[in-house]
Amino acid sequence: MEEFRQAAVPGVSRNTGYAGNVNQRVTELADVADQKVTRIEIGINELDRVMGGGIVPGSVILIGGDPGIGKSTLLLQVLAGLMGRLECLYVSGEESLQQINMRAKRLRLNVGALRCLTETSVEQILAVAEKEKPGLIVIDSIQTLYSEQVQSAPGSVSQVRESAAGLVRYAKQMNCAMVLIGHVTKDGSLAGPRILEHMVDAVLYFQSDEGSRYRVIRAFKNRFGAVNELGVFAMTGQGLKEVSNPSAIFLSGHSEPAAGSVITVIREGTRPILLELQALVDESHLANPRRVTIGLDHSRLSMLLAVLHRHGGVSLGDQDVFANVVGGMKITETGSDLPLILAILSSFRERILSRKTVVFGEVGLSGEVRPVYNGEERLKEAAGLGFSHAIIARANQPRQPIEGMSIAAVSNLDEAIAAAF
Ligand code: TYD
Ligand code: MG
Repeated sequence: MEEFRQAAVPGVSRNTGYAGNVNQRVTELADVADQKVTRIEIGINELDRVMGGGIVPGSVILIGGDPGIGKSTLLLQVLAGLMGRLECLYVSGEESLQQINMRAKRLRLNVGALRCLTETSVEQILAVAEKEKPGLIVIDSIQTLYSEQVQSAPGSVSQVRESAAGLVRYAKQMNCAMVLIGHVTKDGSLAGPRILEHMVDAVLYFQSDEGSRYRVIRAFKNRFGAVNELGVFAMTGQGLKEVSNPSAIFLSGHSEPAAGSVITVIREGTRPILLELQALVDESHLANPRRVTIGLDHSRLSMLLAVLHRHGGVSLGDQDVFANVVGGMKITETGSDLPLILAILSSFRERILSRKTVVFGEVGLSGEVRPVYNGEERLKEAAGLGFSHAIIARANQPRQPIEGMSIAAVSNLDEAIAAAF
C-alpha cells in the first residue's frame, strides 16, 4: 500500500457554465503546417532501423531490459556514435564517473568529450540541463531518480512516474531528445511498472535468452516509426557488436542441414522467438521404448506419437524418441506440436526439412492442425530473419501475403507431412 496525497487541481472550480471561459481554439488538420521530421542517425544500423531511422529531436525513448543485459553499454556506444554531431548529456544515477570512464576505456570508445553527470534528483538534473542545453539526455536509470515533489522512495511507482513526467515535460518544452533506461523485473514488466509506456514516444526492449551472448532489441511502441522491427547484437569483450545475419544465431551451429531438426516460432511473453527443435528416433532395445523430452512437455510427446500413429500411419512403438529444444529454452505452448511431429518424422525417415522453413501449429487428437494466436506476427518475425517458407494451420493463413514468404496452409497431419517432405 502506498499513500498518495491528492493535489488540488488549479483552475478547476465547481460548474459555473461552460462557455464563460474559452481560451482554446479547435484547428482543422488541413490548417496544420507540415513539419519535416529530421532524424539524427545514430550510426548503429541495427538500432537505427528499430527506431525508424534515428532519433527524433524532442522525442522520449524508453529502453527497457533485464539488469546486466547491456543497456548502459549500448547507450555509451550510442553516445560515442553521436559525438561531435549532437550535444549529449549522460546522467548516471547508478555508476560513478570512474566506472563510466572505465567502461569507455574498456570499450575503446572515443568519448573523452562526453559530458557526464552523476545525480539522482530530477530537479537538479533539469537545472543542469537547462544551463547546458544538450540535444540529447540519457538517463541511466529512471528507477534511481527521485523528485523532490514526491515523498516516497526512489524506484516506487509514484517516484518513477513523477520523475518521468518531469523529464518528458522538459523534453517537449526544450525540444531535447531523451533516452530513459529502465530495468525490467523478473516477470518482464518494466519495474515501476509499465506505467511509463504511455508517457513516452517510443518503447524499446532489450532482451536475450539466458546465458546467450546475443541480444535482441525490439520496438514495442514507436510514435515515429513501425514496430516489429528487430535489431540483433552480440555481447563481446569490446561491447556490443551488430549481428547482420541474425537468423544464423538461431541455428544450432552446424552449417549442413540435418535430419530431425525443425525451426519453429514460439511466443514468449509479448514477443515471438525462433527456436530449433530436434528429435532423434532410434531403434530401441528396451521393452518400454524411451520417450525423453528436454524443454518440452513429456506427456504431450506421448500424445503426439499416438496421433502420428493413428493419423499419420507411422508407428514408433519399437523406437526410442528423444526431443530437445536447442539453446536450453522451455516451450510451454501448443504451437510446437506440428514442428515436433515433423522433426520426429524427419529423423525417423532420414528426410531433411529445408533450412528456410518454419513450422508452427497445434495438433489435435483427431489429427487436425489448429491455429495458434498471433500467427501473422510469427510469420513476419520469421520472414524478417530470412525464412522463406512456412507450414502452418489453414486458419493462421494471413489475409495479406507476407513478402518473401511462401506459405503452405494445412488442415491436417497428412497435408502437413506432404508439404514438409
Ligand atoms: P551493462 O551495460 O552494465 O548492463 P545494464 O546497464 O543493462 O545493467 O552490461 C553489463 C554486462 O555486460 C556485464 O555483466 C558484463 C558485460 N559486458 C561484456 O561482456 N563486454 C563488455 O565489453 C562490457 C562493457 C560489458
Ligand atoms: Mg546499467
